[in-house]
Amino acid sequence: MKLQVLIPSDISEAGKQYLRDRGYEIKMGRGLDEDTIIADAQGCDAMLVRNEPITRRILENIPSVKVISKHGVGLDKIDLEAAAEQNIWVTNGPLSNAIAVAEHTMMLLLACAKKLVRFDLAIRSGDYNIRNTMKGMDVEGKTIGIIGCGKIGSMVAKKCVHGFDMKAVGYDPFVPAEARLPEIEYVDTMEEVFRRADFVSLHVPATKDNAGFVNKDMLSLMKPTAYLLNAARGTIVNEADLYEALHSGRIAGAGLDVYAQEPPAADNPLFTLPNITVTPHNASLTHETTDRMGLHAAQGIDEVLSGGAPTWPCVT
Ligand code: DGY
Repeated sequence: MKLQVLIPSDISEAGKQYLRDRGYEIKMGRGLDEDTIIADAQGCDAMLVRNEPITRRILENIPSVKVISKHGVGLDKIDLEAAAEQNIWVTNGPLSNAIAVAEHTMMLLLACAKKLVRFDLAIRSGDYNIRNTMKGMDVEGKTIGIIGCGKIGSMVAKKCVHGFDMKAVGYDPFVPAEARLPEIEYVDTMEEVFRRADFVSLHVPATKDNAGFVNKDMLSLMKPTAYLLNAARGTIVNEADLYEALHSGRIAGAGLDVYAQEPPAADNPLFTLPNITVTPHNASLTHETTDRMGLHAAQGIDEVLSGGAPTWPCVT
């Protein structure tokens, strides 16, 4: 009998084909709620998941599942403690989406600096004269502030420094001295980054300890001309405080791909503001990267079900 892999939320054909080529049977999920995932996973050997919550209750009720493989990087929706208790491997694809997310961050940065959305909406509504009344800004010589100098943060810093002649300051206490990049001036506090940067860009995972750490106090350190960029996780920003900072003009604007609640409510007050540029958590969803995320996630499943350890273990 073929080993079965449950995929609750569809992925690219490349990832599915990788599994079929190695003899696995794919079972597509019928829904993303707890009960449906539990029912669908009965008898399955593995699950390939996206951003659906994989809760303790799910993990305690899927006895045949040996490995859960995350499509992409973020593990914040998987109860890792419960997975460890149930002896379920968790693996992800840390190299799968850095390029797409870093490029998307650059897009948000430029869209903010050049006021892309405002000019786009104006000209569509017949206001060509807006070119004489509103101005964007140059990014050359400006400072990108990187919170979290891992793969994505480092890529953003390099693109800013080499591509746009910007300066980069960064905060990341986990990067050892020998791994530091010449492009980034590493500083000892997050506050210094918020104070000095013209663009503060967030590149940290969401953990149980850092919810809402970008709050009123941190935002109040920023220059009034500065922008906040977030293509990491929405829960690390206190959205009510961000709304206030944007509405009052305390900061110039924000470029956001992620939200505290996803999908965000249609009446989220942030969406009433003219000084934000927003995308629907699709930074990693390019053609190339969805294939790579699917392949890396499928690879992790095959590695465990073939009796080995995954290349990218998160819970062992
Ligand atoms: C990630 O890798 O976590 C992306 O946000 C897609 O889920």
